[in-house]
Amino acid sequence: MYIPIILGTAREGRQSEKVAKFVLEQVKKTGLETELIDVRDYHIRATNNTGEIPEAKRLAEKVVRAEGFIVVMPEYNHTYPGELKMMLDMIYEQYARKPVGICAVSGGPLGGARGMQALRLTCIGLGMHPLQEAVYFPMVQDLFDEAGKIKDPSYEKKVKGLIDSLIWHAKALKGGGWSWLKVFIRYRNSHMGMAIWRRTCPRNS
Ligand SMILES: Cc1cc2nc3c(=O)[nH]c(=O)nc-3n(C[C@H](O)[C@H](O)[C@H](O)COP(=O)(O)O)c2cc1C
Repeated sequence: MYIPIILGTAREGRQSEKVAKFVLEQVKKTGLETELIDVRDYHIRATNNTGEIPEAKRLAEKVVRAEGFIVVMPEYNHTYPGELKMMLDMIYEQYARKPVGICAVSGGPLGGARGMQALRLTCIGLGMHPLQEAVYFPMVQDLFDEAGKIKDPSYEKKVKGLIDSLIWHAKALKGGGWSWLKVFIRYRNSHMGMAIWRRTCPRNS
């Protein structure tokens, strides 16, 4: 299962990069396929949703393959960074029915909770399924040591909880829920299926 991590700010000196690298490590530990999708690599000057520009094509390839996402998002003025919105807006239908878990980051004590609510609304607009679970990284400037290692080990458990929920939702959403019924009806209506059905359930034929 491919679950990429989206790093939602291109700001010079961004603290969120430390969080994204930490989350990436945790996803790798579970054995899932993952990578960082950095908004810096998809930076465009103005909104473009034609799907034709190289940045959109590169993003679409990854989004189509992904079965879910984790977004690491710092809070900027009570919402999420503009460059993240411009990147997400480049494509549309490729996101449909995929779960997304959010890790919110802030330099203050609220952990980016307001930005996260705004991002959840955008994710719904794009047809994604934002998870109820989330991980908050308040006072991010104090959370990591000089080597970039997280000081508080409890974050491993928090992120693991988010990953577990993401996997559960990705599996549940993948088949459209009723896929087993579609498979059953297709088989029941096939030539061979009908013959076997009549023999095994004569009263229902
Ligand atoms: C333009 C801008 C707006 C910000 N607004 C908020 C905010 O509304 N609430 C908050 O807790 N922190 C705010 N911050 C501080 C960030 O949370 C802080 O920079 C933190 O390190 C995470 O962002 P970073 O990855 O860019 O470093 C803001 C930072 C910037 C650059």
